[in-house]
Amino acid sequence: MTALLEFKDGTSRIALVTGGAGGIGSATARALASHGASVVVTDIDRAAIDAVVDDIRSKGGQATGCVLDVGDPASWLAARDVVKDTYGDLSVLVNNAGVDVIKSVADTTLADWERLFRINSTGMFLGTQCFLDDLHAAGERTKVYSSIINMSSICGNIGVAFQSAYCATKGAVRMFTKAAAVEFGSLDKRVRVNSIHPGTVDTAFAAQCLKELGEAGFAPSPEEAREAIRAAHPIGNMASGDEIADSIVFLASDLSRFMTGSEMLVDGGYTAQ
Ligand SMILES: NC(=O)c1ccc[n+]([C@@H]2O[C@H](COP(=O)([O-])OP(=O)(O)OC[C@H]3O[C@@H](n4cnc5c(N)ncnc54)[C@H](O)[C@@H]3O)[C@@H](O)[C@H]2O)c1
Repeated sequence: MTALLEFKDGTSRIALVTGGAGGIGSATARALASHGASVVVTDIDRAAIDAVVDDIRSKGGQATGCVLDVGDPASWLAARDVVKDTYGDLSVLVNNAGVDVIKSVADTTLADWERLFRINSTGMFLGTQCFLDDLHAAGERTKVYSSIINMSSICGNIGVAFQSAYCATKGAVRMFTKAAAVEFGSLDKRVRVNSIHPGTVDTAFAAQCLKELGEAGFAPSPEEAREAIRAAHPIGNMASGDEIADSIVFLASDLSRFMTGSEMLVDGGYTAQ
């Protein structure tokens, strides 16, 4: 029997993860590899990339690393060369890299706004453009749709105080995903595109946000901010990176083969209330 992310002939799907050294990205890279994908781990932090690659290889998985700044078109072209030279045509693109800023609308600077859009939204657009032909070629050759998974957030669905710029970037991810899915379907690109919308995930990113939320007056201390956030998730906790990674594996695999243009909420019930 073939693994979830192998083709019927036993060859691996080739997957690239941006922000692959971070909490959700590294968990995703590990999960994709454990299900049979050959994974290209990308991030701006070389040492952290190498640690993830070494870990995957030590468990018998296939991985290579590559520095990729998602806001830089030249960086994407260089990453494409690495993918093609190392493995071939990409089948799975996980646009995961992202940053946040906790500020009121009044305090958010133009530089904050532009930085968040560059990494959270423009990065996804550049990656999609850069790899579209390869994803299409892989889909044609294997007769299995390629898959793009775009990292949004519950902040792409609901408004959150002190995160207006972040919400705007994640809303852009959500709507770009839908438009691209419809367009690629109409052009018979054999590429599915879905967005994923986690609630709070217990990573360094979340720790920083909670600290800043406390400082912004959302809660008197980071500990109380953490407790308030935990309580806001009906499932009773924040997510782990692995819980989000498993959903990404599902979207990457043929288990989700009838899904495109969808927004998958993995939020412990946060937005169901
Ligand atoms: N943690 C959460 O609560 C949560 C919830 C919903 C959505 N998300 C989203 O999930 C994604 C990953 O978040 P995380 O919690 O793993 O954060 P993280 O901070 O652990 O990881 C983010 C990674 O992105 C990398 N990065 C930053 N700028 C980059 C750039 N220009 N190019 C490439 N990589 C860059 C960082 O080096 C880091 O490794 C983000 O898009 C975030 O918005 C996170």
